[in-house]
Amino acid sequence: MKPNRKVYVVGGDITTFIGKNHPDFIWKRHPDFGTKENPTLEELTTKAILGACEKTGVKPEQIQRGYIGNFAGELFSNQGHMGAMAVRAHESLRGTPFIRVEGACASGALAVVGAIESLQAGLDIVMATGSEVQTTVSAREGAGYLARASHWETEREIDDFTFPAMFARRAKHYKEAYGATDADIAHVTVKAYSNGNKNPLAHMRTVEMTLENASTPGDRNPQFLKNEDLREHLKVSDCSQVSDGAAALILATEEGLKKIGKTPADCIEVTSYGVATSPLGDVDDFTFMGNTHKAATEAYADGELSAQDIQICEVHDCFAIAEVLMTEALGFAERGKGTDLVKSGATAIDGSIPVNTGGGLIAFGHPVGATGVKQTLEIFRQMKGQCGDYQVPNKPQIGLSANMGGDDRTSVVITYKNLG
Ligand code: CAA
Repeated sequence: MKPNRKVYVVGGDITTFIGKNHPDFIWKRHPDFGTKENPTLEELTTKAILGACEKTGVKPEQIQRGYIGNFAGELFSNQGHMGAMAVRAHESLRGTPFIRVEGACASGALAVVGAIESLQAGLDIVMATGSEVQTTVSAREGAGYLARASHWETEREIDDFTFPAMFARRAKHYKEAYGATDADIAHVTVKAYSNGNKNPLAHMRTVEMTLENASTPGDRNPQFLKNEDLREHLKVSDCSQVSDGAAALILATEEGLKKIGKTPADCIEVTSYGVATSPLGDVDDFTFMGNTHKAATEAYADGELSAQDIQICEVHDCFAIAEVLMTEALGFAERGKGTDLVKSGATAIDGSIPVNTGGGLIAFGHPVGATGVKQTLEIFRQMKGQCGDYQVPNKPQIGLSANMGGDDRTSVVITYKNLG
């Protein structure tokens, strides 16, 4: 789709992403254990919403509609009815339509799409937010909740850790098809941690990762799946984090910009987007992300862009193999050559096509519903030179984000142009 009214991303805010291994995360060995609690889903959501208003100068009463992406609030926090929870953030949001959208781990980007389409329908200032809390239960119990994004009837039994096992299956097929090794794929992990170490908001900002540790299973980096066939293809370091966090952004039309005293040069423009949905439990090729490829093909065609035009990119690296497959589905590398791309340094912060500069889902973290919103904001922040220690050398002009739900079942690809 190409917006038929111009759509601008005005800016927004991201909370720190926290969970196990983050210094501020409260757990039994933290000095504040027993006196302090981790932030709740509502607190994180409120922080992101108010932060987005403050950073953009948009008053809550100027927001005509909001979307919130969240996957499993009912399970992790006993909280559904997320739109009505979000408007508790500010007195002036009371009565503002606020709608929850859910597409598993693509919920955040679907919230951004909801905002874009509301602007097409005639509104001028809309908020997209996303939030998730996942640390209220053990990683194993949480894996069961996340498995609701698979085809429960046929896929849940693959392993207690259903999604890690599904991506171990992809790694297995990919390695068999192309002769890639664990060490080849581990370059994604090392890049993610190296970038995350430069990012003050990243869940794993203090955790270092060497190529040797990322390539080798061991006591500190165990293979944790029970599935005998898949176990050897995934280690803890290959996985995105079980994170809590939220992100919010403001989108507006030209009319909207006038109302909030901004110009297009303050913003980035949404040039095109593609959304694709494929049936659960029905992946026809484990070595390719066909659904993401479909969404990208639409976004490129409608934006009159090609992979070669993209200068900054956020992809859904829920597991290291997923980033390899994403870079191929998006056309940055030929099929089977995704590991060569990352090994060449092209996707590093100073490379020709920087990917996941803040650490991606592996090191920045993956609070499911927030991820897609955070991706858009990361593109904005890179284009506006706001990324501090992980800022790419030149302010990029053309960018892309790719957010995915389930095993490549819901895909959202958005392209952007810098106007400043
Ligand atoms: N030796 C052997 N086994 C060990 C071990 C060791 N030294 N340390 C841990 N393990 C095993 C154990 O089996 C343990 O489980 P139990 O304690 O319940 O027996 C298991 O590993 C996990 O250990 P922890 O709970 O200590 O691990 P953790 O809290 O550090 O979590 C992780 C690590 C399991 C990899 C967790 O980070 C994780 O689940 N990450 C993936 C999150 C995820 O799947 N997100 C969704 C991505 S999919 C997507 O994005 C699309 C969508 O729509 C869902």
